[in-house]
Amino acid sequence: MAPHHLQTLPRGGADPLATYAYGEALAEGRGRTLALVAPVSERNLNRQHHPLMSPLVWDLGHIAAFEDLWLCRSAGLDPLRPELSEVYDAAETPRSDRGEIGYLRRAEALDFMQQMHERALAALEIADISPDGDRLNAGGFVWEMLIAHEHQHNETMLQTLQLVGPDVYSPSRWPLPPAPQLGGPDAVEVVAGPFRMGDPDREFAYDNERPRHEVHVDAFSIDRTAVTNAAFLEFVADGGYSRSELWDPAGWEWRTGEEVERPLFWTADGAERRFERVAEIEPDMPVMHVSWFEADAFARWRGGRLPTEGEWEKAAAFDPATGGSRRWPWGDEEPSPQRANLDQLAFSPAPAGSLPAGASACGALGMVGDCWEWTASRFGGYEGFEAFPYPQYSEVFFGGDFRVLRGGSWATRASIARNTFRNWDHPQRRQIFVGFRCAYDAR
Ligand code: AVJ
Ligand code: FE
Repeated sequence: MAPHHLQTLPRGGADPLATYAYGEALAEGRGRTLALVAPVSERNLNRQHHPLMSPLVWDLGHIAAFEDLWLCRSAGLDPLRPELSEVYDAAETPRSDRGEIGYLRRAEALDFMQQMHERALAALEIADISPDGDRLNAGGFVWEMLIAHEHQHNETMLQTLQLVGPDVYSPSRWPLPPAPQLGGPDAVEVVAGPFRMGDPDREFAYDNERPRHEVHVDAFSIDRTAVTNAAFLEFVADGGYSRSELWDPAGWEWRTGEEVERPLFWTADGAERRFERVAEIEPDMPVMHVSWFEADAFARWRGGRLPTEGEWEKAAAFDPATGGSRRWPWGDEEPSPQRANLDQLAFSPAPAGSLPAGASACGALGMVGDCWEWTASRFGGYEGFEAFPYPQYSEVFFGGDFRVLRGGSWATRASIARNTFRNWDHPQRRQIFVGFRCAYDAR
């Protein structure tokens, strides 16, 4: 097949402002990715630090290869680097094998990224992103997906940088708000009744967030804030890690097999490491880097349980005044630092409950931002699910032991953080910037 030339494609331009905004967002996202790796040495970028994670430089090449693939599909281009598609196909090459394969090293990866970025901007100029364009371009879908994909890999890369140990990464951090003086109840009530769950199909969302559907949720209550380090320390002191009756059987097997005695990145002498900093465990902070199994055991110890996904989303989104569902806990206005700790600025969660402007209608705090939150639910498709644009994004993960995480963390870009967004991982995993809160049946 003769190579396509961008100039021969039909002119888009139905919405020049939207086109401009996507170009800006692509450039901004790329700037973040490059800033993230700029202080990392060539050796630390190229090597595989942890069997769970790719070498950082693999993420870079993969971001570009993903653009290559989707520009072929959405703009009819021939691939720029067809020989790389397998190396960078996450489904073909599991993370544990990514240390051996012939991925591009730093200079080549950065070069590939730059070339793909220019190609993407050129293709965007002439893409038909009007609502009646082809399904990939319509409403800018594929462009939003490319932006969101790079944003998601930024968070994955930060997980890798946190896992490597104290010598590799020293971010500059925005200041955190002070710990709040929260009066009032520890848990807030959510009324019984129908709730519209999932994405309303007006803005970009992933296939697994759709279709929006009505669920009936019984009355329940939910912790007003994420579980804190102070509360988790009580669980530890009360023998939480040695009482098998508190644990799911598979969790107990994991705990004993791996000899887990505390959250990941805690030390035996009461310190916690975030990147290069090791400091005394701060009681007001959300507990983080616990597995689903640890969260589940804590909830049982506390006399509660993890919320189901439907409960979590209702506590975050349901507005009893309108009966509708909000895009973010506080409403439909875009995230801001006053509402949610997102966007790789603080490099830490904020003290639990410290952003009152981010409260949901039921009064829950910090549901979006700070830390992802484990839910009780396994990852699956909603009734009427349709894989789009590719089953490898979510459908291939349905039906396994993956548990759903909600809400996003301090490391999540705002484009990913919304009430309907669903993340997932195996129940034993702890590398994600994850914590949890408990739910309770109504009495
Ligand atoms: C949604 C975070 C589980 O990292 O595997 C990145 C996101 N998908 N590239 C992952 C994703 C394709 C995905 N998670
Ligand atoms: Fe990816």
